[in-house]
Amino acid sequence: QQPVRIAPSILSADFARLGEEVRAIDEAGADWIHVDVMDGHFVPNITIGPMVVKALRPHTAKPFDVHLMISPIDAYLDAFAEAGADTITVHPEAGPHLHRTIQRIKSLGKRAGVSLNPATPAKMLDYVLEEIDLVLVMSVNPGFGGQSFIESQLRKIEAIRKQIDKLGKPIDLEVDGGIDVATAPRAIAAGADALVAGTATFRGGPSAYAANIRALREA
Ligand code: DX5
Ligand code: ZN
Repeated sequence: QQPVRIAPSILSADFARLGEEVRAIDEAGADWIHVDVMDGHFVPNITIGPMVVKALRPHTAKPFDVHLMISPIDAYLDAFAEAGADTITVHPEAGPHLHRTIQRIKSLGKRAGVSLNPATPAKMLDYVLEEIDLVLVMSVNPGFGGQSFIESQLRKIEAIRKQIDKLGKPIDLEVDGGIDVATAPRAIAAGADALVAGTATFRGGPSAYAANIRALREA
């Protein structure tokens, strides 16, 4: 298990001031910037696209951890790579050929991630784990910030941690949804080594970001 990385989700930022918000979480100690892309089709909400990712790129040097909740997926991979994504994470249900999608992300020179919805089994990773750089376990149903952590996902994190250790590759195991100072230590104990946090980062406004991120790290 690697040192814990904190990835604030800008879904909970002030969208009218996104550039400043990204700078603020960078200065507050974020390791990665988690960007939630939603299309109103794969998930019941709409957020931002590659143009906004590109516009944000000059505002920080921290890695962009881009979580694509869109389908069909393949047509947009190049645009997000060109916009400045560092990791591109996709859901297996978002296209007919997960392996091909992963190959495409790698061929664009980006880190590839696979995200599992709460009802999607860890088994989905059996034939792709060795190809990817990151697994993103959804501990809420994707679409909205501020939902409660789904307990059953701890078992899934434990199972995936075993598979990653067996493989012996430094694959990141990230958890997304309902992460706060109470759930963070439980996710880490189950084997996660990266935490997405929207609500828990942005609550209290810019003056609280550094303390919020520190609290998660120390939890
Ligand atoms: C949900 C997104 C999450 C979300 C997490 O679809 O993938 O990244 O922003 O928000 P919190 O931390 O508020 O649960
Ligand atoms: Zn996300």
